[in-house]
Amino acid sequence: MLAYNLIGSSLVALGALSLATMRARANWGLSALDGTIGAQEAASERAPSRDSDGRRHQHSDPSVVELGGSMGPRLIIVSNRVAVPEPGNKQMAGGLVVAVKAALRNRTGVWFGWSGKIDETETAEPRIVERNHIAYAVIDLSKNDFEEYYNGLANRVLWPILHYRVDLQEYSRVDHSGYLRVNRQFADKLSAFLREDDVVWVHDYHLMPLARELRARGHLNPIGFFLHIPCAPLDILRTLPHHDEILGALTYYDLIGFQTENDCDNFAAYLLTIPGAKKGRGLTFEVEGRQTRIGAFPVSIETATYARLARNAARSSLARQIRESLTGLRLVLGVDRLDYSKGIIQRIKAFDRFLEVNPEWRSRVTLLQITPRSRSDIKDYTAIENEVTTLIGRVNGRYGEAFWTPIRYVNRFHSRTALSGIYRAADVALVTPLRDGMNIVAKEYVAAQDAENPGVLILSQFAGAAAELTGALIVNPHECDAVAAALKQALTMPLLERRERHGPMVEHLLVHNIERWAEDYLAALGETRQRPSLMSELRAFLQPFEAVDRSARNARRA
Ligand code: G6P
Repeated sequence: MLAYNLIGSSLVALGALSLATMRARANWGLSALDGTIGAQEAASERAPSRDSDGRRHQHSDPSVVELGGSMGPRLIIVSNRVAVPEPGNKQMAGGLVVAVKAALRNRTGVWFGWSGKIDETETAEPRIVERNHIAYAVIDLSKNDFEEYYNGLANRVLWPILHYRVDLQEYSRVDHSGYLRVNRQFADKLSAFLREDDVVWVHDYHLMPLARELRARGHLNPIGFFLHIPCAPLDILRTLPHHDEILGALTYYDLIGFQTENDCDNFAAYLLTIPGAKKGRGLTFEVEGRQTRIGAFPVSIETATYARLARNAARSSLARQIRESLTGLRLVLGVDRLDYSKGIIQRIKAFDRFLEVNPEWRSRVTLLQITPRSRSDIKDYTAIENEVTTLIGRVNGRYGEAFWTPIRYVNRFHSRTALSGIYRAADVALVTPLRDGMNIVAKEYVAAQDAENPGVLILSQFAGAAAELTGALIVNPHECDAVAAALKQALTMPLLERRERHGPMVEHLLVHNIERWAEDYLAALGETRQRPSLMSELRAFLQPFEAVDRSARNARRA
């Protein structure tokens, strides 16, 4: 009971922590920790101890325990990939990275997860790095872990299923057990530096069973989960073999967050199929005596900062070069990780159709498709890459001129700053995924526009962002003619209409920004944890009266 109360108040305190307080905290207690922690012998000395109950508790080496500040509640973020800012660490900053960075910005905390490196040497402790006031704790994966957990169950099974692509899942029992094994490893490492008042926030489909593992190691901390990708409907979820071990494990979290109400409803339907599960008040569910709450928390961006970034980036040499290279051409932009869920094939076909039925637009518009590669070990990703390049070659061959290339295709990584300048230069953004949790490109494009002369967003109805960005031209990416028609509408849209569509979307994003997302989520996690404490306090308070009442009843019966 006391533990719950402490946790509840630590969450409140966590929400209130200011940047100034955070900086004042002994420089994060990290000055000596920048780099790999200690040698092998030091690592073994620091191995977390077990108490007489056989469980690991939160009192291992103080330097590790004090990560992210030696006192007060910390926010421990856990995700598969941790984006440590390092030269050469070039990953497109997707929604998860943007969100996690923003969540940690004004809070005391640690970001724990995979370094992105493969290494066979088993080390007892994570490597600790501090950059720009964020403490990163990272571990490497072995080749086997990488294959079975990351390429295997996470990206060959969960990713396609949750994106409604049951046809692409390639399930194997080996990958399933590899996935559970890596989740156990994460829990072991995390367990070693978790403190009683930490708030743990786990992100994405790679780590669904993590809360169960942490609970098994005796951690009573508030633990929340957020799914950055979509949640498919019940019938699709149930195509995952042994789904109860993975999706069912989400019930060990106190709060399960989704991008949209639709995702939330889909998971609620799943929860009710778990034997003995009961729906409580609101979006609370009781499963085997555990309480879990679900909710929609649409992820967002740092709208004001991003708008500023774009204003400045518009003056950068890259933006200038792009403008100069266009020489009177209108710019249509697509920015996506190379992934079959992004609808790149359908988009190119729609652009092809647009040029076919609107010959007057040939030589007057170019589609710039920026597509960094990802997960290239998986055959579906190599297949989509081949298909995209073949298709682009065909369109360029059919309509191109010696002086005009219809589609420019770029796999190179661009920083967020560089991208913001490109967004601002684009007349139209084609954001047409077949299924997407949120899609922050859509939000960033809106934020990056010049309010006086904004571009037009064409947005798939199947992106989470469509529920919020209602000023966009909403399309079904499967309908080639409709996307081609929307493109024409966007390119010919009068300035007044562009402003009328853009204004309310920016206003919405200024209010519903990433900081609010983190605050809302953490506040909900705090409430979820306080509820059981109130119940148990009430029970404890009523117990003596109930006992008296019982003995009076017994006396009457006698
Ligand atoms: C999506 C997922 C993230 C993932 C990112 C990049 O945004 O929600 O969890 O990190 O894609 O994918 P990768 O496999 O390269 O980490």
